[in-house]
Amino acid sequence: MTAYRLTVLPGDGTGREVVAEALRVITVFEENSPSSFDITEIPCGGQYYLETGEEWPAGSFEHCRDNSDAILLGAIGWPDARLPNGDMAGGQTILGLRSGLKLFANVRPVKLYRGVPHKVHGIHQQIWNPDLVDMVMIRENTEGLYHSLLRRMEQKAKGEKDSPIIIDEFPGLDGEVAWDPRPISRKGSERVIKFAFDFARHRQRKMGAPQTVTCVDKSNVTRGCRLFRSIFDEISEENPDIGTNKAYIDAFTMWLMRDPEDLDVVVLPNMFGDIATDLASVLQGGMGMAASANLGPKHMLFEPVHGSSPKYAGLNVVNPIATLQSVQMMFEALAYRNEDENLDMCADILQTAIQQHFEEGGCVTYDLGGSASTSEVGQAIADRCEKMLREQFAMA
Ligand code: IPM
Ligand code: MN
Repeated sequence: MTAYRLTVLPGDGTGREVVAEALRVITVFEENSPSSFDITEIPCGGQYYLETGEEWPAGSFEHCRDNSDAILLGAIGWPDARLPNGDMAGGQTILGLRSGLKLFANVRPVKLYRGVPHKVHGIHQQIWNPDLVDMVMIRENTEGLYHSLLRRMEQKAKGEKDSPIIIDEFPGLDGEVAWDPRPISRKGSERVIKFAFDFARHRQRKMGAPQTVTCVDKSNVTRGCRLFRSIFDEISEENPDIGTNKAYIDAFTMWLMRDPEDLDVVVLPNMFGDIATDLASVLQGGMGMAASANLGPKHMLFEPVHGSSPKYAGLNVVNPIATLQSVQMMFEALAYRNEDENLDMCADILQTAIQQHFEEGGCVTYDLGGSASTSEVGQAIADRCEKMLREQFAMA
């Protein structure tokens, strides 16, 4: 069996520390299962830019495009690391890849594990219905309010000329105006909304429970959202086996906090998805628990949602679970796309290890009320995986 080609992009700050834990766990799977990985690590991000004057080495975009079955990213973003035009340094990596590899669906599960305290009321799920928080947010990832920055970053990543920042005069406004157009296209909306319905059907089969897709937008105010909503209505008619809900983003934020049990799969335009997923993370124990997959027709990139947390960088204290859960999603997606039963078993084992770790009161980092280090949690998960892998594959 050929090895999966993984490109690992540790990036900035704590991204490097959590990626080290991902590599620790991947090594355990490599050594104790039939799956193997051919790993290329590429430095990148705002810190790398401050040190070298470039966001990543030349040829990195092409490597991700042409020589990677999956990409694992730590975090991008560092205070004061800005390009001469003011854009964030490191954006080529995260935004250039999202746009350049057409990673149109940003899949962000929001699930509260038994044993993890809820961030708002602090109550553990042992005394709270464990089914209350189990949803997947699907954020459109290539257009909307991010469109012009995504395009600039894609051009840079491909070595093409930067388009100028659009600063214009607007009728009815005085003086200097900076604006970000928010285009929403039929094609872009169709592909992500179809993906959301397919995803709901997949969950329906897997969980044996009926699923709904909730469309979140601001179609009472913006034209782009009106198009998004009308395409949602069209596609929902083609999928009568899946239930639907609709909400405006403002009311949705309240609904999300108040009645998360109503939500299964949620589909949102880019910026609303960015904001709503950070908010939703409080339902699952915080950003240290929030994993994601950026999926396109050919490529996929996995990353924790939390960012580089400069305040905690270098201290070995942040929660590695969001990254390990992203590795779990990577195993699952690679197994699915390659019809690889062994890797699918590995995905199940990593999922079980994470769940049991919390259920059995395993060590946790400060954000979950513990005092364990990043590497202690990583090692604990790696040890659990190793034990299960030995039983599963009975390798020496
Ligand atoms: C995220 C991040 C990124 C985004 C930043 C780092 C550009 O916040 O993945 O949610 O805004 O999409
Ligand atoms: Mn974000």
